[in-house]
Amino acid sequence: MKNRTYLEQSDAVRARFDTIKQRNVILEARHLGKTFASAQGEVEALRDINFKIHRREIICVVGPSGCGKSTLARTLAGLEKQSSGEMLIDGKPVNGPGQDRGMVFQGYSLFPWLTVKKNVMFGPEMNGAGRDDAERDAMLWIDLVGLSRFANAYPHQLSGGMRQRVAIARALVNQPRILLMDEPFGALDAQTRIKMQTHLLDIWRNVDITIVFITHDLDEAIFLADRILVLKAHPGEVQEMIEVPVPRPRSTAQFGGAEFRATKQRLEELIHPPVQPEENEDESAIKPHLIRFTHVTDNVE
Ligand SMILES: Nc1ncnc2c1ncn2[C@@H]1O[C@H](COP(=O)(O)OP(=O)(O)O)[C@@H](O)[C@H]1O
Ligand SMILES: [Mg+2]
Repeated sequence: MKNRTYLEQSDAVRARFDTIKQRNVILEARHLGKTFASAQGEVEALRDINFKIHRREIICVVGPSGCGKSTLARTLAGLEKQSSGEMLIDGKPVNGPGQDRGMVFQGYSLFPWLTVKKNVMFGPEMNGAGRDDAERDAMLWIDLVGLSRFANAYPHQLSGGMRQRVAIARALVNQPRILLMDEPFGALDAQTRIKMQTHLLDIWRNVDITIVFITHDLDEAIFLADRILVLKAHPGEVQEMIEVPVPRPRSTAQFGGAEFRATKQRLEELIHPPVQPEENEDESAIKPHLIRFTHVTDNVE
């Protein structure tokens, strides 16, 4: 039997992509570039990035470390100014941050001295909402992320996964249209990460939100994404935009499925290309590691 490729889509998946493509383009990058000046000279973190994201799509961005994923997230959030090109929301160029975009980072960005509820109320209160309105909105989103019972707890009393739920509630309470997530589950253990991914898909089903999700975990990208933007490093450029052929609704049972494996194989080819033999021709260039073993009886403690 012929191996399935990631380009093969079932009729249902193809029909779904046709529907997605008919939705408005909410976020567009046009020739987006970013160069940092550093002591070692200029670093071209992003070069000529182009993509269009349709409303309510989930786009995952993957690529090797240092390929510019965080720079892309920060630029889209308006926290970093691009060096060239432009970014458009609903077809209009935008500069700087805005309420239309919310952000969730890997590090817990909660205020440790505020309760869960006060953390989530912070945004609306800053935006001028009255205390009662802010509290009502906060409780709505805290409920949605399943933390009603912990509304009066402090961040240090919560697990890592729960803290990231609060971070999601805190971003969503401002009613952004686009949620930018930079490796939000990267610090969580594998089991909690799967739970959070499933939870995020639940939220996305219930809320009118478009998600740009950055990760270096290929399984996570395939599980969540409609399409996966694959970047390469030095400079950070688009390698490919992959339409994930795994049908929705997604479940963890799909991890071993043919579509899932075909997509993962393609991502691995792109991110860890096979080493070209000629690169290794000079065997003398490969030096054995020098490891000195100690006697087992040596006690360093
Ligand atoms: N503020 C900065 N100043 C200088 N160089 C930076 C800065 N931020 C990121 N870079 C460089 O840009 C490149 C991309 O970084 P980053 O976006 O953090 O990559 P990733 O998130 O994919 O690991 C790296 O080479 C990094 O060293
Ligand atoms: Mg990063």
